[in-house]
Amino acid sequence: MIKKVVPLFAALLLTLQLSAAPTVISVTKGKVDIMFRLNETGQPQYSVQFNKKDIVKWSSMGFSLDKDSTFYKDFELIDTQKKVVNENWQPVLGEVKNIRNSYEQLTVQLKKKTAPGYFLNIVFRVFEDGVGFRYVFPKQKGLDYFVVTDEYTQFNLTGDHKSFWIPGDYDTNEYLYSTSLLSKIDNTLMVKNSTDIAVRTVKDKYAVQTPLMMKTSDGLYINIHEAAQLNYPAMQLHVDNKNFALSSSLVPDAVGNKAYLRAASHTPWRTIIVSDKSTEILASKMILNLNEPSFIKNTSWIKPMKFVGVWWEMQTGKSTWSYSEYADSTTINGELIPNNRHGANTANVKKYIDFASKHGIQGVLVEGWNVGWEDWFGNWKENVFDFVTPYPDFDLKAITAYAKSKNVKMIMHHETSGAATNYERYLDTAFRFMNNYGYTSVKTGYVGKIIPRGETHDGQWMTNHYERVAQKAALYKIMIDVHEPMRPTGIHRTYPNWLASEAGRGNEYNAFSIGSPPEHETILPFTRYMGGPMDFTPGIFKLKNYATGAPDRQMHSTLAKQLALYVVLYSPLQMAADLPENYEAKPDAFQFIKDVPTDWDDTKIIAAEPGDFIATARKEKGRSDWFIGAITDEENRTIDMPLDFLDKGETYKATIYKDGPDADWKNNPESYTIENLSVQNNTVLKIKLAAGGGCAIRLQKIRKK
Ligand code: NOJ
Ligand code: CA
Repeated sequence: MIKKVVPLFAALLLTLQLSAAPTVISVTKGKVDIMFRLNETGQPQYSVQFNKKDIVKWSSMGFSLDKDSTFYKDFELIDTQKKVVNENWQPVLGEVKNIRNSYEQLTVQLKKKTAPGYFLNIVFRVFEDGVGFRYVFPKQKGLDYFVVTDEYTQFNLTGDHKSFWIPGDYDTNEYLYSTSLLSKIDNTLMVKNSTDIAVRTVKDKYAVQTPLMMKTSDGLYINIHEAAQLNYPAMQLHVDNKNFALSSSLVPDAVGNKAYLRAASHTPWRTIIVSDKSTEILASKMILNLNEPSFIKNTSWIKPMKFVGVWWEMQTGKSTWSYSEYADSTTINGELIPNNRHGANTANVKKYIDFASKHGIQGVLVEGWNVGWEDWFGNWKENVFDFVTPYPDFDLKAITAYAKSKNVKMIMHHETSGAATNYERYLDTAFRFMNNYGYTSVKTGYVGKIIPRGETHDGQWMTNHYERVAQKAALYKIMIDVHEPMRPTGIHRTYPNWLASEAGRGNEYNAFSIGSPPEHETILPFTRYMGGPMDFTPGIFKLKNYATGAPDRQMHSTLAKQLALYVVLYSPLQMAADLPENYEAKPDAFQFIKDVPTDWDDTKIIAAEPGDFIATARKEKGRSDWFIGAITDEENRTIDMPLDFLDKGETYKATIYKDGPDADWKNNPESYTIENLSVQNNTVLKIKLAAGGGCAIRLQKIRKK
């Protein structure tokens, strides 16, 4: 519903003074309203209501450009257009089979009143679960090629909401979440105490990353993020601790500019998802809907996958990525000197291939296979890796043939150590090499400071780099899993070969740092996962005493919770991260990892509260089986799970993997029990989760005789 409203008071003023009072244009969809106006100074402003109550008060919009430093005022409205869209589409891989895209769109066309009269359009889309808006720079004279020096989008909130946040670092999202009121956000201490992150560039102690998850004192859930962040830097939010007005803070480039644009062009969508139910925030498809359809026409080669890898053993110090003892890859008498702890050796890789083949796991990742690891970390150097030269003990041909004979896909690894320019130079060579050896997917990584020097992981230059890699990979029919990129904003709809990203604090932090507390995974789906899948690497079975040389390290999780994460944390690409021998020691629990799919026809969020618990049910793609994952924070709790999503009148066999009666993450994390039950659509399962625990369930329809 789109209408123009002239508020009564404003109408009065209009007649009294004969001056133009702000005209308010509103658009409604369900419980969500968005209003637009130009204020007295000709500044574009918007506000958002949910159930007729403000959730974003009048907030300013606009820019500073190199060609117009006041591109936020003196506008006049020249036209408006509206449009209603109701459609369904099918993601290539996803949490549901069908996605409904239903919104009301309003476009306002603005012109600067002052010379030289540049144009700006703003497009609003109102969905039942929130709003998205973007700025569009139409093709025009003068403003053809320009520099965005600042964006002034405000989110003027109505109160001191509880928020789940990480600091506005230009280079990483790999932080622990803080939970505090908006008024208490100050990331100084957290950045100082956080000793486990390689690159740290936090310039504003009040800036936080998006997705920013909030809860109001009257129980509304609000999530601010963006969609389709392409050719533009990531948006962070500067928090005004007193007035709760948040404002966009774009990640700058090496010389302090934010973006270089050529009209016609546009910004990413700014998104506000809102609901009175936390479960609906997790179920929202708004961010995906705001992204463009697939850039890839034939997507038949894009496949979901589980994989194991020569990886956790390096993370925990048992073996090394590097082949040689020497800190520099220079050789002695022309030869690398082996350190005898190199993980990616042919015999070891074959062990993983055997394991994958035996258990029906599709892929094997091998890190540390290629020359360069003696010299990769913290050096800000180019030409460390060429992506095609294996170490002497990695027999590429033999491994390729062996994997093929065992029906296992090898997963390539390209660590760039942040040298994006170097990677671009080798990209065609590296992808051709992959095609030649039958590698169909690659895990890439950008640890360390970025080259071009002065650029950061989340700026416009790197954003374009990641997109170029995704595009080129698509040309070579290669799927990608990107570590250390900007956080996702739903662009896996456009690039479905971009299966997953890291861009968050994954399970690996429990290997090489103080780790992440049990609440971490109950916050991630409300924050990091709002933009898309994460390569979190769940499934650790040996939860204590796994780290060589650091006996005090432990996972902040029970074993049952590690299983539950395969369902709670969505990704079409999931690693079974632990060592084969740790799975072989617990074959009954490992069965769940073998059974759980990574691609789904349907998803129901059964219960959720950020920071406390989540229970999610998903239906396997093309099959009648359902899977449930439930997790809790450091508190033990009982979760009621109504199984009303099951087919009526049918009986299902429930295989329940739960915490043992004496389990808790700290003292007894590996205690679990497996139970079988018959359940139906009217069954309500009551499951006790241990402190830091979880539960994983497989529900198989029993065929009628
Ligand atoms: C950081 C990644 O997150 C991790 O998974 C990888 O093993 C290392 N970089 C080395 O590339
Ligand atoms: Ca990482």
